[in-house]
Amino acid sequence: MEKHIPVMLNEVIENLNIKENGLYVDCTLGRGGHASEILKRIPLGHLYAFDQDIKAIQESRPLLKSIADNFTLIHANFVNVKEKLNEFGVKKVAGILMDLGVSSPQFDDGERGFSYRYDARLDMRMDQNNNLDAHYIVNNYSLEKLVRIFRDYGEEKYAYNIAKSIIKERETKTINTTFELVDIIKKSLPYKELAKKGHPAKQAFQALRIETNHELDYLNNTLKDALELLAINGRLAIITFHSLEDRMVKKAFKSVSEIEGTRHGPILLPSEVRKPKYRLVNHQVIIPSAEEVQNNPRAQSAKLRVIERTENDER
Ligand SMILES: C[S@@+](CC[C@H](N)C(=O)[O-])C[C@H]1O[C@@H](n2cnc3c(N)ncnc32)[C@H](O)[C@@H]1O
Repeated sequence: MEKHIPVMLNEVIENLNIKENGLYVDCTLGRGGHASEILKRIPLGHLYAFDQDIKAIQESRPLLKSIADNFTLIHANFVNVKEKLNEFGVKKVAGILMDLGVSSPQFDDGERGFSYRYDARLDMRMDQNNNLDAHYIVNNYSLEKLVRIFRDYGEEKYAYNIAKSIIKERETKTINTTFELVDIIKKSLPYKELAKKGHPAKQAFQALRIETNHELDYLNNTLKDALELLAINGRLAIITFHSLEDRMVKKAFKSVSEIEGTRHGPILLPSEVRKPKYRLVNHQVIIPSAEEVQNNPRAQSAKLRVIERTENDER
């Protein structure tokens, strides 16, 4: 089985504060690294694990089976977490984990087109049933749209140059493969950029992957449901790998954990003050230790935030 090293495993397990009879949800099963540690701790509970990549489901099943039987694997996008859990009669859960982005096996599978290191058709779909792939984006999106994607999702300084070169190349031929795209990117960058450490196509590839899988939209559309699914004392832990994702999570967590009320100048009117229904478990974002980053460079940009439900909807 291809390996994926789970990021901040101890921190996640500790902060989920797992109850042995609890219902838990792993929205991003991957190769089951976090899921198996959760499963080991819930002999009287149940684990529901989602992944939109069928391979993640197939490959993780034997691993989880070797631990226990009290789990259900769901091949679906986590944006449907609430409806899917409802189908199993589950309305509230004790904990939810989201470990965003791609897994190492997806990245390292030369045929899936995620990586600039392997020559493959431009694909990058986590869910291979989806219609939109990187090939379509590269060959059809407008200059403006490509610039925005490379700039916003890739924080690519040369977004315009790369997008312009893609459009130019498209005038004569279709851009089919990862290596063709790498060549175009390399030709778009000044020499001083090419001489820098790190692969010159890294940011542009990341940007295309985020767009192909609508990663920010799905996260944004899931946060509210995930928060609502928590039972009292239930916790939601989210690991992000991108500053835009982290900002989204931080903002969502902040808005539900702050005291609400009408402000009259600096004063909150007591009659109108509403206690928040959630509390931040950690006020500071949690990042991996230097040792973890050394052993697993993929953990480098990871950020973990955890929130706990303290009140019900009913007042
Ligand atoms: C970083 S990996 C998770 C690794 C996992 N925690 C482990 O320890 O093996 C992210 C996984 O989430 C899946 N994924 C990403 N976005 C998703 C979404 N919107 N819905 C369902 N699965 C998603 C990917 O296919 C990938 O397998």
